[in-house]
Amino acid sequence: MKYNVAIVGATGMVGRQFISILEERQFPIDTIYFFSSSRSAGTTIMFNEKEVTVEELKQENIINKKIDFALFSAGGDTSLKFASLFVECGAIVIDNSSAWRMDPKVPLVVPEVNPEDLKWHNGIIANPNCSTIQAVVALKPLLDDYGIKRIIYSTYQAVSGAGMGGFNDLKDGISGASPKKFQYPIAYNVIPQIDVFLDNGYTKEEMKMIEETKKILHNDNLRITATTVRVPVIHGHSESINVELEKSFSLEEVLNTFNAAKGIVLMDNTRENIYPMPLQIAGKDEVYIGRVRRDFSLENGLNLWVVADNIRKGAALNAVQIAETFIENNLI
Ligand code: A2P
Repeated sequence: MKYNVAIVGATGMVGRQFISILEERQFPIDTIYFFSSSRSAGTTIMFNEKEVTVEELKQENIINKKIDFALFSAGGDTSLKFASLFVECGAIVIDNSSAWRMDPKVPLVVPEVNPEDLKWHNGIIANPNCSTIQAVVALKPLLDDYGIKRIIYSTYQAVSGAGMGGFNDLKDGISGASPKKFQYPIAYNVIPQIDVFLDNGYTKEEMKMIEETKKILHNDNLRITATTVRVPVIHGHSESINVELEKSFSLEEVLNTFNAAKGIVLMDNTRENIYPMPLQIAGKDEVYIGRVRRDFSLENGLNLWVVADNIRKGAALNAVQIAETFIENNLI
């Protein structure tokens, strides 16, 4: 069985990763369609060694096609405007924006963590925020084995999370250009603001991590706080996660739990200075965990250092894995 797949935002940072991940994983594709705004419409992109013309995202270019999966990464407004049209035309939309993540009628899915949520949907599946995805992959095995009381997230996020504009701000900023995407220069700097500030003093990114974690782990009572920070790294988000577990644990058991978990690579050998870093992890599929150690300031506390490629596992790969999970479980 082969499927017709549409990429909405095909010319963007995540859109291009959708394309190369579908190729790499030999996703069973019959016809692929690329959509962008009028700016890039008419350009061509190679797919499986064939040139495909990018089409403008507009109603008449959608309704004449039979599309099985539509992978969206063209911003929240585009998702809000066009996703339901794709659904009406029979597609399953996997949306990388934040438009529907917290909608109770829309599943928010990381295949290693809550694949069961793919069984209920109204045509749209939301792909979580990049920093949430890698965090919940790391936390799920701990939740299953020990229970979780409280989580403290501190993130170190790459510029590619802000799309091409973020990447250009770092590249051009190194030679002194003023920032266009970020509020301040990101070259040689660290910015403790990702997205806008809310009335409670948190940024939208921080509240996304908090609310999305609760939704994916099916636990509204989890106590979570977060500080999210942009750093001058191109690809790969890093996170320091402090977690208070419900049950007591031994470090050896926790390491075994991570070793056995799906989608995780344990990279933790402090005697030889081994721990994950974005430069090594960019381009990889798994979530890498190191610096696993007891937080001896509280009873069942644990510290983790978690690194993943924010454009792959944090966005495009997770969306493709959602589509693969649909196929593997005969949900389409
Ligand atoms: P375009 O190349 O025509 O601007 P990034 O996040 O890397 O900036 O990429 C954003 C992606 O979303 C691009 O492919 C961009 O297309 C696409 N896009 C942005 N706005 C729209 C829109 N209104 N309709 C369709 N695609 C859009």
